[in-house]
Amino acid sequence: MDFSNRQNRLVRLSEVSQSYLDKIKNLAQSDPYYPSYHIAPLHGLLNDPNGLSFFNGEHHLFYQWFPLGPVHGLKHWYHVSTQDFVHFYDHGVAMWPDQEYDLQGCYTGVALAKQEELHLYYTANRIDQMGEIHQTQAFAVMNKQGEVSKKGVLVEENREHYTHEFRDPIILEQNDQHYMLVGAQGVDGKGKLAAYHNFRNDGFVHLGNIDIGLEDFGYMWECPNYFEQDDLGIFIFSPQGVASDSKYDLNNVFSVVYMIGNPIDFNSCTYTHTGWHELDKGFDFYAPQTYLDEQGRRILLGWLGNSKSEYPTDKNYWAHMLTIPRQLTVEGEYLLQQPLTELTALRQTSLPLTPKQRLISPAFELELEVKGEFCVLFGNDLQECLQFSGSSSEFCLDRSNVSQLHAEQFGTVRYAKRAQDEQVIRIFVDHSSIEIFADNGRTVFTSRLFVQDMSQLRIANASGVIHYLAPIQLSSS
Ligand code: FRU
Repeated sequence: MDFSNRQNRLVRLSEVSQSYLDKIKNLAQSDPYYPSYHIAPLHGLLNDPNGLSFFNGEHHLFYQWFPLGPVHGLKHWYHVSTQDFVHFYDHGVAMWPDQEYDLQGCYTGVALAKQEELHLYYTANRIDQMGEIHQTQAFAVMNKQGEVSKKGVLVEENREHYTHEFRDPIILEQNDQHYMLVGAQGVDGKGKLAAYHNFRNDGFVHLGNIDIGLEDFGYMWECPNYFEQDDLGIFIFSPQGVASDSKYDLNNVFSVVYMIGNPIDFNSCTYTHTGWHELDKGFDFYAPQTYLDEQGRRILLGWLGNSKSEYPTDKNYWAHMLTIPRQLTVEGEYLLQQPLTELTALRQTSLPLTPKQRLISPAFELELEVKGEFCVLFGNDLQECLQFSGSSSEFCLDRSNVSQLHAEQFGTVRYAKRAQDEQVIRIFVDHSSIEIFADNGRTVFTSRLFVQDMSQLRIANASGVIHYLAPIQLSSS
């Protein structure tokens, strides 16, 4: 099926044959760039993580999925769950775009775990006969067997205040009240955070926009995420149309920004904070969500990709993956991200790092001890490589010399200010992805890298350990 002009993006899963699906699944699974310990689509395109939650003794991860090819088409919610982030259960599709109100996509949303049910709040996307897009906020319930029943639209369009760009609801529950925040574009063409209130299930009432002190910050705010902890309100969102003159900030097509402040005051619709920071400095990170698990950990996963780039793997009918799960903590005005401790269970062989070594496999973790300047090259026998380096004041991720450049129109180098001199940097590589945790998790780079037959690791002015990582196990029985 041809997706070069996105022409088949509205074809339904039920309209294609099993042999087509088997064929594209085979192509995807045999792609040497397909990851082994990240959640990736069996075929087709994955984007935002959705409904992240801890429910019924397990972590539940859903994601946006277009099954038929590497484009943004009719979106489904795909569902996997796990107890240990090593063994995953594959539940398949949780929600199909099959209702009159979500016929062109079950878009991004969140989950609220109740005792017996998982409540799902998501955006229903509909395109009418005139080709106009309508986005409403819908509700569905999943039981402990993983069966989802859709319950209809909770929040209709609000064209008096917002354009059709009105999506990605999040829900806050406070006793018998619910607040819903929705990412939106105001009728003035600027990004907004719409707030709704529901008292004792009487229905959602529009409160207005939350004033976050950024009047003119892009044309659309996608994927808001908000939580409170230790009397703080933490807000993460994905603004579209923001840029900066600094080489350190907002260099991605679309970036992710966070702030730490006081809890949102819903009476005055204001959120005061200490200023914004970018959550990730790499090329491929977007639409993250967080949730609280049974141990009280705040866990984050993001989409390891971005929507304006074409990838060399598109020809194999799959696109993107989720990031590894990360634990989020607060340090002053910063968020720190650390790989979830469960991932250490994937470690197989561990070897000391040497300046030059041959890689046993392209799925590994580095614990890199650095002080002052250093450099690491992830390369092949043709001298093609991705380079990560540090000077005394900054880090630099350079993918200009990889085997297959992609999205180079958005730049091939990313920088971040360095906060600590002596430190252990953790780097996770999985065939075609790299996630770098520096400055104790304050400075993170997430990126794809396409180095064909990656076989060489070169390290200057650093030492440490390489851990080769086992694949995660995905089963459906
Ligand atoms: C972000 C996003 C969301 C939307 C979803 C559709 O990547 O555009 O705003 O709900 O993806 O797949």
